[in-house]
Amino acid sequence: MFVCFFFNESDKYLILVTGGAGFIGSNFVLNWLNDSKCNEEIVVLDALTYAANPENFKNVKNQKFFHFVNQNIRNKEEIKKILQKFKPRAIIHFAAESHVDRSINSPTDFIETNVVGTFNLLDCSTEYYRSLNSKTTGNNGLSSENFRFIHISTDEVFGSLTTDDPPFTENSQYRPNSPYAASKASSDHLVRAWNKTYNLPTIISNCSNNYGPYQFPEKLIPLVIYNAINGKKIPIYGNGKQIRDWLYVEDHCKAISHILRFGEIGQTYNIGGESECENLQLVKKICKILDELVPKKNRKSTHKHEELIEFVKDRPGHDQRYGINSHKIRSSLNWKPSENLSSGLFKTISWYLKNIQWMNSVKNKSYEEWIKTNYEKR
Ligand code: NAD
Ligand code: DAU
Repeated sequence: MFVCFFFNESDKYLILVTGGAGFIGSNFVLNWLNDSKCNEEIVVLDALTYAANPENFKNVKNQKFFHFVNQNIRNKEEIKKILQKFKPRAIIHFAAESHVDRSINSPTDFIETNVVGTFNLLDCSTEYYRSLNSKTTGNNGLSSENFRFIHISTDEVFGSLTTDDPPFTENSQYRPNSPYAASKASSDHLVRAWNKTYNLPTIISNCSNNYGPYQFPEKLIPLVIYNAINGKKIPIYGNGKQIRDWLYVEDHCKAISHILRFGEIGQTYNIGGESECENLQLVKKICKILDELVPKKNRKSTHKHEELIEFVKDRPGHDQRYGINSHKIRSSLNWKPSENLSSGLFKTISWYLKNIQWMNSVKNKSYEEWIKTNYEKR
């Protein structure tokens, strides 16, 4: 169940979702709007970078509960106006540059969006929060008592585990290793400071690797699916023995809605799928499912998909293992993932096969350029 409404059912509420046109944001918005119990409007604020796809909203864009603002969180003056115009009772902050390899290739955008953009949002939110009445007065569920700023972060801030280490907890030390991870770690520190210093009611979530519908095919799982069905080589960095803890995106979205509703101000929550898997094993699993789902006569190659695997030069500073201990969110907010890796992969691959057009719409000139930049010189 998606936990959507919040206070009195007759009230009119609104939440602002930054980065809502990206992978996790789109899933969150669509889940929210598709929940029949949802009586709350959504404003998506997104700069529509290469990672966004406004087409994700084609079935909801005419709904009266859905609003879209094309704006950049680097633009502080515009953020102030948007908060005053829409008066959200909560902000869910997904907007970020999110791809580790791009952060290695060109880190500037990561600092400007993930660090400066988050600072802008925090500063504007504090001013807005202070302008709210302490108790609800109107019919929009709006008061400083009810206001929340939910910051969506990552397990990468904790650095890398060895095979024998226990999984990350909320108390693990911050040890970011990539420019992306360092920019997210910086944003987490800013969020914490705005809570401690200015009493902004913030909550942080640190989540493991997501997968599912609408993920840009620069990330491992959609890239493997895309390459495999097109008979292209499947690149595995290094020896493929790195481990990630995979979480089906809908389970992440449910966790966020639990945090929004029940989370404690000032706390952080780790979210993981309890599905740790080595990259090579994961890719082989995807290939096996594709062997089952794509009949031989429809394949670009008549061989097994696994034969497309190619080992390529490793990512610099490549983290060996991520693993998440989700005990806190499980026990205090009563959340647990519904999908395991096998069921989630099957759903995901089936979605991409049914939505080949979505995949093709994403694959434009800038995508081809990125693929050249990242893979040709490896
Ligand atoms: P994504 O790259 O798919 O989407 C990011 C969205 O943010 C895009 O719609 C983009 O247009 C928007 N955006 C980027 N810069 C912006 C700016 N300056 N102003 C306004 N909008 C901007 O990312 P995602 O995978 O959906 O991740 C969403 C959030 O979740 C990120 O903060 C990421 O760090 C975090 N996260 C992701 C994962 C994962 O596995 N994908 C796991 C844990 C946490
Ligand atoms: O852990 C959460 C993080 O997961 C999020 O914060 C990031 O936004 C998200 O991008 C993801 O980061 P990763 O670097 O783990 O994801 P990626 O899909 O890029 O890579 C997953 C693993 O697969 C990683 O060990 C690198 C490897 N890989 C990746 C690509 C793109 C390959 O072997 N080959 C590839 O071509």
